[in-house]
Parts: sequence; C-alpha cells; structure tokens
Amino acid sequence: MNVYDSTRMADVLAPLGYIQTDDAEAADMVILNTCHIRERAAEKVYSELGRLRLQKEAKKADGGNLVIAVAGCVAQAEGEEVTRRAPWVDMVFGPQAYHNLPDMVQAAARQGGIVNTEFPALPKFDALPDQMLSQGPSAFLTVQEGCDKFCTFCVVPYTRGAEYSRPVADVLAEARRLVASGSVEITLLGQNVNAYHGVGTDGDTWSLGRLIDGLQGVEGLARLRYTTSHPLDMDAELIAAHRDYEILMPYLHLPVQSGSDTVLAAMNRRHRTSDYLRVVDLLREARPDIALSGDFIVGFPGETDADFAATVDLVRRVKYASAYSFKYSPRPGTPAAGLENQVEEAVMVERLAALQDAINAEQAAFNQNTVGSSFDVLLERPGRREGQLTGRSPYNQSVHVNGALSAGLKIGELARVRVDQGLPNSIAATPLVPANAA
Ligand code: 5AD
Ligand code: SF4
Repeated sequence: MNVYDSTRMADVLAPLGYIQTDDAEAADMVILNTCHIRERAAEKVYSELGRLRLQKEAKKADGGNLVIAVAGCVAQAEGEEVTRRAPWVDMVFGPQAYHNLPDMVQAAARQGGIVNTEFPALPKFDALPDQMLSQGPSAFLTVQEGCDKFCTFCVVPYTRGAEYSRPVADVLAEARRLVASGSVEITLLGQNVNAYHGVGTDGDTWSLGRLIDGLQGVEGLARLRYTTSHPLDMDAELIAAHRDYEILMPYLHLPVQSGSDTVLAAMNRRHRTSDYLRVVDLLREARPDIALSGDFIVGFPGETDADFAATVDLVRRVKYASAYSFKYSPRPGTPAAGLENQVEEAVMVERLAALQDAINAEQAAFNQNTVGSSFDVLLERPGRREGQLTGRSPYNQSVHVNGALSAGLKIGELARVRVDQGLPNSIAATPLVPANAA
C-alpha cells in the first residue's frame, strides 16, 4: 500500500511542477514513505534521515535547498518525535493526510516543521486528483484501508485507523483510469481487503466478491488480484469468485501467522488452525490450481517448541507457493508488547531459519510442478539476460521469458509461454507463439 500511496503523492505533487526522479541526489524534495509494522522498518528511517541531513546541508551551502518529508505509518505513530529526533525534517504526515501535500509544501516553505497526523473527517480519496501517472502494466488500487481486527502484535489498527471501504463507483472509475494509462492488471489493496463493504452502484453494500464481479466489466482489464486477506473474511461469495471469474488470478495471499491454536488465541486472531485449513479446502475445491501464500510470525511471546513445530507442520500441509516469515517484533502500544514471556532472540533466529527452509522447499516444489505447463505471462520489465522479458504468471511467480524480444513480444503484453525450468524464486519459460503470428 505504501507503493500505491507514493504513486498518489506523485499525482498530488505533479500540478506543483514536481516530477518523479530515481536520482535522490538531484531531488529538490525527498519523501520517505515509511512502514511501522516491525521495528527494523521503523529504525531504517532514522539512519536514512541522517544521510539526507548531509545532502540538505550540501545543497544549502550551494544556495539551494532540499525539502525532506517523512510520510506513512512511522510519521503517524511518532509525529512530533520525528522532528524532535531529526529537526531538519520539513514535513511529517500520516497516511490519511497526503492529499494536503500542496498546502503542507507551502506552509513548510513559510515556517518549516509541519506535522500532520490527523484522520480527516472527509476521506482523503475524495480530495485526491483524478489525474494519475501511469503505474505500468500492473497497477495497485486501494479499495479498503484500516483494520478492526486488533491482532495483539499489530500496529495497523492504530496507524491506519478503523476500516474504511471506498464506494464501488470510485473504484470502477479509478480502474478505468488505470487501464487508460496502460495497466492491464490491477491488484486491489487493503490492510484487510476481504472485509471490503463499499456502497455499491445500486445503493446496496457490496462485498469484495461482488466488487470483483463489477470490475469484470472494465474494458481492457485482463487480470485482477487482491491483497491482504483475513481468513475469517473469506466469505462464500469471494470463494465462488475464484471459481467463476476468469479475470481473478488463481493466487491468494492468506496470512495465518501461526499453526498453533494456543498462539493464535494469544494473538487474538479469532480463528483456529482448523478454520484456516477449512478455508484452504474450500478455495481448492473452487479453484483446484490456486497458489497460496501466507505470512508467519515466529517467536510470538510464549511460543514453545511444540507451538513452532505446529507452524512448520501447517506449512507442509498447505503447500504454499510462497510465504513471508518474520521474527516477532514488539510494537509500542500493542497488547503483546507488554507480555512477560518474550522469546529469546537466539531462539527466534533459529526458528526463523527452520521455517524459511520449510517454506523455500515448498516454493521450489511449486515452481518445479509448473514445468511443462503453459499459461499467459504479463510482461512487466526487461529481464536480466539478453533478449529476456520478465513478468508474472497467473500464480504470481516471477517468470523469465527467454527469447521474448526475438519473438516480437513487448512489455505490457500478455504472452503465452511454456515453462522450461523451476528455480527457487522464479521460473524460466519460452514463448509459445511468436506475437506477430498470433
Ligand atoms: N512482529 C512481526 N511481524 C509482524 N507482522 C505484523 N506485525 C508484526 C510484528 N509486531 C507481520 C504479519 C503481517 C505482516 C504484514 O507483517 O505477519 O501479516
Ligand atoms: Fe494487523 Fe492484519 Fe491483524 Fe489487522 S488482521 S490487526 S492488519 S495482522
């Protein structure tokens, strides 16, 4: 979602004459769009700010200036603390305030040190410009923000706030604009995206399954994905969407966090392992080839060896196509941070390595299993090797298409390929039909 928010900040700043650059040294303004989900992500911000301070001083010595901003959830959570620790920062604003960037830029130029961590009464989406810069073949579209689940380890309900769903008409309009600007795939975003309940075009409340149905009508849109989902919000309509709608890719990121019911209860996840496995079964009934991904936390306070073994067991049972795993990181203000029985760092390190071994084995097996099959790949960028283009399979695998350029294929196209080789983190494939013969 930070990637999406950054693209929208660029949209807001464009009328002021700002253009995006990959060259941070040359920039007149640097916005660090930050993440507060784990401590390491938050700490990186301060080391980066130290570096930017030198850049600002050098620019000032040359008679110029560098505007430095901290956006996102670290800004939201720490507010004034950011300007206290790094007084050279010009603007600090949370994820709900970036539509005010033009005002903030002016105010910062006048007086410096703007801090804006409000949750405005009017949703920011109503104030964002319609005009959008292209995100390329695959785009993000935020449909839902915030979370009401309050897992005991998680800062999201505090930094992103309560659940909010954008109206269906707005989502459809934005999807059309994305397609007009060159995107063929859209990933619908939300911290808890499958809890989506937006006002429909008929005045009813639409679920995510219904929204996906509505998006099928957007001409030129070939692929849809959504992330991130909570197991309890996988309702029958959404599961059926995986069976019925070709536009919906056979891939789902469905975090479970732990395979131990004791730990899940302490995390306030509100589901057991068996509930999760039932959802997985229903999804596979609806769409037998669906690729699953997940998130795991090791070393949640009180996690025993047996609890951890249950997590590894779950990974093997689900057969994930990929998964993310993290060491538990106590977040200020969350209930779990105050628990007595924190797990030692050395134990967490060991468990993380063991879990990642298990996940990597599943991922390699999944990739290997696709060898010999053929499907469409959305070509997104040049490959690392000569003549290659790289893209995503329907299962969200990274695919290196060899000989793509000599087959006449181009970035932004859906290309039919046959998979030749499964690698640990990707697959290699060859074009099936040269584009000019298709
Ligand atoms: N410590 C470690 N991992 C966390 N996540 C969220 N909060 C924490 C935390 N305090 C992980 C969860 C979530 C993902 C986005 O980040 O696995 O699904
Ligand atoms: Fe955080 Fe996800 Fe739990 Fe919400 S459902 S509190 S975003 S981990």
